[in-house]
Amino acid sequence: MGAVGAAYCTVQKTMRRAAISTEVVTPGIEKKEVEVKHEKHDSFNWEKQWYPVLPLSMLHGSGPEPIKLLNKDLVLWKDGPDGDWRCTSGICPHRLAPLAHGRVNSNGELMCRFHGWCFKGNGLCSKVPMAEGDEEATAKLVGQDCSKLASYPTKTKKGLLFVWPHDSAEEADKKEPFVPEELSESPNWSCFDVPAGWRVWLEQSWDPSHAPFLHQYALPNFAPEYASAMEPFEIQDLGDEGLSVKHGGYMQTNMGMKADRRFMPPCANSTAYRYPDGRIIGFNFYFVPTEPGKVRQITTSYFVPSNTEEKQKNQLSGNMMQMSKVVLQGGLVS
Ligand code: FES
Ligand SMILES: [Fe+2]
Repeated sequence: MGAVGAAYCTVQKTMRRAAISTEVVTPGIEKKEVEVKHEKHDSFNWEKQWYPVLPLSMLHGSGPEPIKLLNKDLVLWKDGPDGDWRCTSGICPHRLAPLAHGRVNSNGELMCRFHGWCFKGNGLCSKVPMAEGDEEATAKLVGQDCSKLASYPTKTKKGLLFVWPHDSAEEADKKEPFVPEELSESPNWSCFDVPAGWRVWLEQSWDPSHAPFLHQYALPNFAPEYASAMEPFEIQDLGDEGLSVKHGGYMQTNMGMKADRRFMPPCANSTAYRYPDGRIIGFNFYFVPTEPGKVRQITTSYFVPSNTEEKQKNQLSGNMMQMSKVVLQGGLVS
């Protein structure tokens, strides 16, 4: 079983545990055994995937902006005012200085702060100042593999910068980063780093039974006294395309709600909570594995008001579950 296969297993066990924690609380709920095939996950390649690394709105100037992804030290930088975002190794091949302390020069090249070596967006070294005038030394260093930075494909989509942390641009081109279609072109993304590993943080997002307890005070109407036993989840294994999960409410205040969840490898959880009156509250999470024991969470949410006339009059006021910030298709609703 591959790493993702193992993760699926754990996710599913957790989901079943979350739903069936009810065994004690409400005896009589039947366990639904789900048959899952994992063989096809063995080929999962963690590097040949698109990962969102930062919302574009959070990138300063042309960079370089240091990031970690799959425990690689990388930098993001823009190769000119109207240029493209680049992602290269964050360590200078000369004497291993962190390139995040460098700058982008007027040619749109990344210059190392230590001795001024310059690099193009494709990672090739374009200048070694101390070798200038020495043809032999320049020939050994400029444009050579020994002085090249690893460079990775990037893509921007719906306000996020994505990185493909593998040297396989053609494969990257054939695959689109996953962003839920229902989001607007530039949603309000939040981004923060969490001191928890990818598996732990992903799992907790699939366990709604914690919400009435953990989110008391954080969200209106979330309180231990409202907690209700959940029905077992319906889980569909989509192989390398992830998981599709349906479940119902977990509090007296949302028992009529139907949740549609989608896990899209490597790190997306896209969930829509549909209420009987037509309201939809959506959450989109990415759990980006930055380094062991750490995850970057990138999130947005949206709200679709009820389409019934009576509820529309009250708009958000009738919600059992309101958010502190309500966004509609990724845009803030005042
Ligand atoms: S360490 Fe980067 S130029 Fe010397
Ligand atoms: Fe939660």
